[in-house]
Amino acid sequence: MGETIRAACAVGWPIKHSKSPIIHGHWIERHGIAGEYRLEGVEPDDFPEFITNLAAHGYVGCNITKPHKEVALALSDPDERARAVGAANTLWLDNGHLRSTNTDVEGFISNLDDSAPGWDTNLENAVVLGAGGAARAVVHGILERGAENVHVVNRTFERAEAYRDHWGPRIHPARWDDVPGLLPKANLIVNATSLGMVGNPDLVLDLSLVGDDTVVADAVYTPLMTSLLMAAKNRGLRHADGLGMLLHQAGRPFELWWGIRPRVTPELRELVVRALNAD
Ligand code: ATR
Repeated sequence: MGETIRAACAVGWPIKHSKSPIIHGHWIERHGIAGEYRLEGVEPDDFPEFITNLAAHGYVGCNITKPHKEVALALSDPDERARAVGAANTLWLDNGHLRSTNTDVEGFISNLDDSAPGWDTNLENAVVLGAGGAARAVVHGILERGAENVHVVNRTFERAEAYRDHWGPRIHPARWDDVPGLLPKANLIVNATSLGMVGNPDLVLDLSLVGDDTVVADAVYTPLMTSLLMAAKNRGLRHADGLGMLLHQAGRPFELWWGIRPRVTPELRELVVRALNAD
């Protein structure tokens, strides 16, 4: 008798460009798990019903993406990280109880640990560009790793101020005009805006202003090599790309659903790169 197929999914609206099925499908196959990973396009009005009846929909858990991460937090039992970030990207059923976490934080941090080991040593000043959803996980991770000051630069200044209200005095809200003044003291620069993404305006920073040890990270992965990362590479700076962040955020959900911690390998990365190039 065959094993019962169980499933996890990614829930978003829209959802069709998600690369998560490639990542999870690869690991499911690699570990011989009798499971599936699917995409579920669920409109905001239908989302509460969907996740509060996850088992009835045939799922052991799910990833949550735009625009549902905040509602997912409110409708589940979040761990400390999800609560601190203010958003949940992973749900799982724990004896029928709907729990949540946020693995975007560890996706960001593990990717930096891999790409630029020691990036958090003497981290006096981090500059985070953006104060939207993605930036929340980035800022939380940087603070967890002990940054003394995190300068949050945003077009809508009030959103950066809200970060200070949430995380306290280590956050320094800033405007784009402040960036040239911040770059010379930046140990870490992170793009967490949608600038540089296909279809969006480019992000242009004068990296001649930064020190040789500055690390640059971009949360954008379409294109893989953003103009910011290209500039960092040309300047000889250590850098971490958005695809690494995407791959690294996926491991913990897989472990929560299937009980096995998978590895981010060059082979997996290559699979996703090929899919991105085919888009
Ligand atoms: P995500 O969940 O991907 O972070 P988001 O919450 O909509 O998406 O945040 C997008 C971020 O990119 C915000 O910081 C946004 O700035 P505003 O808060 O001022 O909107 C930033 N962003 C998007 N387009 C931008 C642009 N053309 N110039 C500057 N910042 C931009």
